[in-house]
Amino acid sequence: MSARRRIMIVVGTRPEAIKMAPVILALREQPWADVRVLATAQHRQMLDQVLAAFGIVPDIDLDIMQPGQALTALTARLLLRIDDVLATERPDLVLLQGDTTTVMSVAMACFYHRIPIGHVEAGLRTGDLDNPFPEEMNRIVAGRLARWHFAPTETSRGNLLREGFAGDNIFVTGNTVIDALHQVAERELDIGVDIDPDKRLVLVTAHRRENFGEPFRAVCRAIRHLADSNPDTIFLYPVHPNPNVSEVAREMLAGHERITLCKPLDYLPFVAAMKRAHVILTDSGGVQEEAPALGKPVLVLRRETERPEAVEAGVVKLIGTDYDAVVNETNRLLRDGAAWRAMARGVSPYGDGRAASRITEVLRHQLAA
Ligand code: UD1
Ligand code: UDP
Repeated sequence: MSARRRIMIVVGTRPEAIKMAPVILALREQPWADVRVLATAQHRQMLDQVLAAFGIVPDIDLDIMQPGQALTALTARLLLRIDDVLATERPDLVLLQGDTTTVMSVAMACFYHRIPIGHVEAGLRTGDLDNPFPEEMNRIVAGRLARWHFAPTETSRGNLLREGFAGDNIFVTGNTVIDALHQVAERELDIGVDIDPDKRLVLVTAHRRENFGEPFRAVCRAIRHLADSNPDTIFLYPVHPNPNVSEVAREMLAGHERITLCKPLDYLPFVAAMKRAHVILTDSGGVQEEAPALGKPVLVLRRETERPEAVEAGVVKLIGTDYDAVVNETNRLLRDGAAWRAMARGVSPYGDGRAASRITEVLRHQLAA
């Protein structure tokens, strides 16, 4: 390969940064790649802490986030700002990850500029535009506009084939989230929050838009009841800063002696919290991938998931947001040792920690062609 290829890698939110960090670090090692990192900063604090944890400094930072941002205004601001960046930078390739508004907006801007896209974590689908909202639409748009699809699993590859994408452009790589997990698991990990060592820990995260309002309030009522009725268990809940979540969480859960609400944990402390947890309640995508690899049972506070592999393996259970379901399923894992052991079996259907090197190899071949 003669001239170095200009590769722009885009990150907007916390999960994009966690999942792109291994790709950025791997591509920076390649003599043929001229890597530029574009941070839209759709998330500000949560993006910065991940980039710092991996020692990554963005080359361009759009500083887009506004408190309580609405989807339409966020999309409009992103499109306008990205347009300028693409016109100036003229990358040979743009790499996007996942299904956020950053990804959808950058994909559209690349399409207008006729710049090829590689989509990392391609082919995840629920088949329901309302669940998750708006992510299902975001990833459909990104996938439709991408030239290269880096599918984490055979299931996601199958989804893309069913939508008519050419098999030659789909590469099953595993999910880069497992690469990131392997990279930090060797480091010193400390939650940084006082947790009674004699009590079991239930770790909670929640932020999905389709759960805002009554579904999320029902989950909070259930957590309060579980904390009341399980004196040997504490609940640690790093609260997502979206005001639709944080205001309700504080109103409904603050002040209970066995519920600790804290700010979002930085990535390394959060991995420490997952390792310390007995059970994890979450509506997060990434946590559904990481927790099985750490052998932690996950109850998913959603009606559908685009990550069926761990559900099929029996280590993740989709329970929705109904009060009774959250109470009963959590109590089952807290009180029935056999039920807990059946779900606490360390399996890693999402990868082996080598996804970034596979993506790098594919790009080297493809860009040389
Ligand atoms: C976004 C993504 C979602 C992803 C999630 C990961 C979209 C539409 N949503 O949801 O797919 O799963 O990130 O966490 O792309 N905020 C801060 N500081 C931060 C981050 C957020 O204060 O570092 C607050 C701000 O008030 C911001 C609000 O959270 O306006 C919402 O952020 P936004 O990125 O629009 O949505 P998320 O709910 O974070
Ligand atoms: N995470 C974190 N701190 C927290 C909660 C989550 O670092 O307080 C990490 C977690 O390990 C996972 C990612 O953030 O890798 C998931 O992000 P999030 O749940 O915000 O988004 P999603 O995966 O649902 O898109």
